Amino acid sequence: MKNIPMTNLAAQYKYLKKDIFKRWSKLCDATSFILGEEVAKFEEEFAAYCGRKYAVGVCSGTSAIHLALEALGARGKKVISTPMTFIATSEAILHARGQICWADVDSRYYTIDPDKINELLPSEAEIIVPVHLYGMMADMGRIMDIATRNNLKVVEDCAQAHGAEYNGKKAGSIGDIGCFSFYPGKNLGAYGDAGCIVCDDKATAELIKRLRTHGSLDKYYHTEIGYNYRLDALQAAVLRIKLKYLDEWNEKRRENAALYNEALKDLPVKTPKEKSNTVHVYHQYSILAPQRDNLKEKLKEAGISTAIHYPIPLHLQPSFSFLGHKKGDFPESERITSECLSLPMCPELKKNQIEYIADKIKEFYA
Ligand SMILES: Cc1ncc(COP(=O)(O)O)c(C=O)c1O
Repeated sequence: MKNIPMTNLAAQYKYLKKDIFKRWSKLCDATSFILGEEVAKFEEEFAAYCGRKYAVGVCSGTSAIHLALEALGARGKKVISTPMTFIATSEAILHARGQICWADVDSRYYTIDPDKINELLPSEAEIIVPVHLYGMMADMGRIMDIATRNNLKVVEDCAQAHGAEYNGKKAGSIGDIGCFSFYPGKNLGAYGDAGCIVCDDKATAELIKRLRTHGSLDKYYHTEIGYNYRLDALQAAVLRIKLKYLDEWNEKRRENAALYNEALKDLPVKTPKEKSNTVHVYHQYSILAPQRDNLKEKLKEAGISTAIHYPIPLHLQPSFSFLGHKKGDFPESERITSECLSLPMCPELKKNQIEYIADKIKEFYA
């Protein structure tokens, strides 16, 4: 067997191509390219999917987090998040003129450790940004409890967790605001950059709606200094078509994760843990693997693509050196980044491909 990619966007595209081009053709005929009815309909449908009153489409996940933080007044305030994430989570804190305050992750689940948040309190922190990493939700019960006791707001980074659940509630529906990325490879992916915020507060949704388009609702009347963070209609059309399949695709990812778990269970790798009160949607199936870099090379030789999410925790990234952190400050994040390896994962992955990957991992450790 040769060449197993990390994900298979081509298969999905082939299946949906007719529907997408039909919708795109209508939008192009109407020269309706930015915001408009298609975006409004997507917002309505995605808010309903998440169990929220409002959704506001924006141009990326990064801009969603930026606007959520700005709308909640992060400017000049401490914002608690984790260094074990894609850089955008913390970049957005700086875009909103907040101060980054990192807490390490729970070594079992790779999401922010509520005990580590508690160690930072009381402080002038105003907002917590938990990241639902790899498709598994952070411990939102304890996070919301800490937030309520300390009068903090919560912005969920749901970029990797479309459709994930915690105690029966969907990602994005528990904190004050949920932020999504629809980068093409996400569980719900557009055909370009796109993102969204979801919330229940009307004033917050309206403020974010204005901020995404130069602080304006009525053309050329500006109530705030805003941004050009609009969602375009062609992306909204793709997202509306794909949203109907999201639960089915997530279920396939979960089935594939169960096959991996079984095939890898007697090996010296650590497979992802799923808490009993959560539904993990396996945006990534990331294992902790001793001699990770050698294993990655061996799998590459066998035609198997893998990825490292992420090779360096944020506190050790050169771009954040101005914060003055050093090696050892967040040991769990450092340990995970030194051993994590994401294996191919998508709804289209086949059982025999998973068996082949597991065999090659077995050979490596034999
Ligand atoms: C956890 C996390 N947060 C934020 C983002 C940013 O999303 P975007 O690339 O759409 O700006 C990503 C994207 O990969 C992500 O994985």
